[in-house]
Formats: sequence, C-alpha cells, structure tokens
Amino acid sequence: MILLDNVTKYYPHETKPVLDNITVHIQPKEFVFLVGASGAGKSSLIKMLTREEKPNSGKIMVGGIDYDYLKKRHIPHLRRRLGVVFQDLKLLPNRTVYENVAFPLEIVGVSNSEIRRTVPKVLELVGLADKGDKFPDSLSGGQRQRVAIARSMARQPKILIADEPTGNLDPKISEGIMRLLEEINNFGTTILVTTHDSNIVNQMRRRVITISDGKIIGDQKSNGHYYLDAERANIAKRPLAKQAAPDSKKASTSGITQKTARSAPKRRIIQ
Ligand SMILES: Nc1ncnc2c1ncn2[C@@H]1O[C@H](COP(=O)(O)OP(=O)(O)OP(=O)(O)O)[C@@H](O)[C@H]1O
Ligand SMILES: [Mg+2]
Repeated sequence: MILLDNVTKYYPHETKPVLDNITVHIQPKEFVFLVGASGAGKSSLIKMLTREEKPNSGKIMVGGIDYDYLKKRHIPHLRRRLGVVFQDLKLLPNRTVYENVAFPLEIVGVSNSEIRRTVPKVLELVGLADKGDKFPDSLSGGQRQRVAIARSMARQPKILIADEPTGNLDPKISEGIMRLLEEINNFGTTILVTTHDSNIVNQMRRRVITISDGKIIGDQKSNGHYYLDAERANIAKRPLAKQAAPDSKKASTSGITQKTARSAPKRRIIQ
C-alpha cells in the first residue's frame, strides 16, 4: 500500500510548493497512472516515495513502512520492497545487461547461485533473454527501458514505480512496455506509472490520478481517461446523475479523440 497524507514539499529557496497538500492512497495490487503536464510535480511525488526527497509536512507510508520512523539504515529494506524505474533510467554503462540486472541483488548480498537463477528469469520476462551480454549503449530505447524494468523487478518488489517509462518511445514499443507492466501487475505487484502519453492511458483504462501545479485535481478510480483539466479529471468522482457528457469539441483540444471522449461517461455508467 502507498499512502501520502497531506504531503507538502518546497524545494530549497522556492516560495511555491512543488507538492501542495497531496493525499493519495493506493491499495496493494492496484495499477495506477499518475498524469500531469511537464513540471506538474510527478517526479517530485515519486521522489517522496523513494526517499530521494523528504516532504516539509505530511505523512508517507509505503509497504507498511512509516517514513516518519525511517532511518538511513532502513533504506535498503525499503528498496527491497520498492522497485523503481527512473525517468533517466540510471543504467550502468560499463556493465552488461546481465550485470545491470544483477547489481541490485549484489548490493543486498544475494548469493551468486541465486543471482544466476534470478537474472535469466527476469530477462526472459522482459523479452531480453538473448541480450544479457550486451552493453546498454548498443540497445534500442525500448530495450534499455526493459532493462531498467528488469533491474527494478530483480528483487521481486511488492511495489513497482515507473517514472515516464515510455518517454521518447514509439507507440508500438510503448504499448509493449505497458503490457509488460500489466503482466507484472497480474503477478500481484502494485504498479504506479507516471506518463504524459494520453493514448496509452486511454487504452489501458485504469485508475488515473491527475496532478496539476503540485495539486491533485482528479482521481478517476477506474476506467480513467487522460484529462489534464480538473473538470474532466474529476468526472468519475461526481454523482452519476450529474455527469454531463464531456463536450467533444473541448475534448479534442485536450488531445484525445472525440470517440474516446464520448465513450468515457458511458462506460462509467455501465459500471
Ligand atoms: N531539485 C529541484 N529544485 C528546485 N526545483 C525543482 C527541483 N526538481 C524539480 N523542480 C521543479 O519542480 C517542478 C516539478 O518538477 P517535476 O520534475 O516533479 O515535474 P514532472 O511532472 O515530473 O515533469 P516532467 O513531465 O517534465 O518529467 C518543476 O517546476 C521543476 O522545475
Ligand atoms: Mg518527471
């Protein structure tokens, strides 16, 4: 479970919070998109969860760990529960694909024999069984992304966070990455993905949390769509009787197809 309660964060020397009173609860095994424009605060929210940054106020709990009581020595324990795919991947350029995936296991002292059992399995899962001896530089963007996912999965975390895992990838490869995350979710792993890819979000129809200017402006609990304006991003929260069909003209200006915009409330009502 991921829990942020009234979390506010100011970066040093900033007068405006980058995260403004954020409350989000994510249950085990959920698959959640966190969407928002560039600069909205998505990566900053992720950094609260990975403890790269600390909030100025508010409460954070991840996988039963209360960050108020999190000491430096507990961080490896946290990292075992939490797999992270960073926006800039952070692959080790001088290590092979196999070694990149083995690395998080080595640093927590997993035995060599277990590493030899685990790494090929994880590479198989992400479709890179034949790339173990390659270096990251010689891979395509989509393959590098999958190495980063494999590395985050190596310790079999209960929670996987992926920050913009399809940035700069073509639509077909992006879809493959999302299917992979879906498969990992089917094994029971909680997934939180940040993205600005409206097509992917509208195809997957999962829970969609929308952040704008450091504030949560929408939380469509299921069957969510990519809307960046509060009115639409909150449509799933309002009582059904009051839900007006989003007007298709406005929807098309926000970058989604008219067909998608019209079908969104229908699906919600059928539910
Ligand atoms: N270390 C930092 N110090 C000061 N300001 C920062 C820092 N990191 C990010 N910011 C600012 O905080 C805001 C939110 O940044 P963040 O990286 O969280 O956005 P994002 O939603 O992930 O954007 P993108 O979609 O482009 O990745 C931006 O205005 C950014 O310039
Ligand atoms: Mg970001």
